[in-house]
Amino acid sequence: MSFYIAGTGMYVPERIVTNDELATMVDTNDEWIKQRVGISERRISTDEWTSEMAYKAALCALENADCKPEDLDYILTASVSAECVSPSTACMVQNLLGATCPALEVNAACSAFLFLLETAAGLFARKRAKKILVVGAERLSGILDWSDRSTCIIFGDGAGAAVLSCEKDNYLDSVVTVHGGDDVIKIPHFIGCSPFFTKENDSPYIHMQGQETFKYAVNAMCGDITAILEQNHLTLDDISYIVPHQANKRIIDFAAKRLKTSEEKFYVNIEHYGNTSSASVPIALDELNRSGRLKRGDYIILCAFGGGLANAACLLRW
Ligand code: UT7
Repeated sequence: MSFYIAGTGMYVPERIVTNDELATMVDTNDEWIKQRVGISERRISTDEWTSEMAYKAALCALENADCKPEDLDYILTASVSAECVSPSTACMVQNLLGATCPALEVNAACSAFLFLLETAAGLFARKRAKKILVVGAERLSGILDWSDRSTCIIFGDGAGAAVLSCEKDNYLDSVVTVHGGDDVIKIPHFIGCSPFFTKENDSPYIHMQGQETFKYAVNAMCGDITAILEQNHLTLDDISYIVPHQANKRIIDFAAKRLKTSEEKFYVNIEHYGNTSSASVPIALDELNRSGRLKRGDYIILCAFGGGLANAACLLRW
């Protein structure tokens, strides 16, 4: 027993920050960002916490699935930029929705939405749930060093959600990989002020080795998509859409080229939102769902990579 995606939702803050506006803050320009990353603008929160964006995306997904908060059996969220370590974003969303089910958070950075689906699949398999809400939500603007042009131009804020329901077994397969280590991507926590602790840490912002991450990302995406296809005796011709993590348009183009498929097979919206980490796949999925381009029965692949290092992909029947 697995699940199908009964509804999707998203929320992004109103404030749009263009490349030109960023160019007034750091030494960058619109042309470089568009050419090297594929981003024109991103949404930045001015007055909403991560949990509030998560709640709004959740409401949107619940409405799309025609599901009430009281019908939920679990709420699973993911974030690397929550306003609190505790309560988790999941508990905050449960409270805001007025739901009563258990709620917990998963940390797997940009791949987290895939890890949420895998976690949910376990709960469905144990027959612990009929309906599960999954949400990826980020206020990455709060953990960016706004003087570092190699990171502050890439990321954006937002939330994406989905309601999973047990009536159909449409979560068909997955691959999940972790290469643990903090040398390529790292977001250190505030280390506190213990008078007994002697170690130091980097500043509590996103630190990323861009080119290392880029190479890892292309290899991870191509490897995971190939594995999913081979495991299920499918080819890319059988897949209607691939919904990838939106980290850099050039990563997607490289992957398309290496997989010998058209870029049109990939749903891409990075131009408008930048990289929203755990929210990026569910935001893209919601846009694709609402565009009317998916038909029930279509095969789609979701895939993501990022901090951990963690990467994952899954095969879904829509
Ligand atoms: O979601 C988590 C996973 N994250 C990712 O997948 C990100 C993967 N990495 C990337 O997307 C890219 O590596 C970046 C967008 C981060 C950087 O792009 P790049 O093409 O790898 O640039 P680079 O670091 O090789 O830098 C090339 C040049 C350098 O100048 P010189 O040394 O050639 O003179 C940089 O100083 O571009 C310069 N540069 C910039 N110029 C204008 C770096 N950042 C900027 C900038 N504006 N914002």
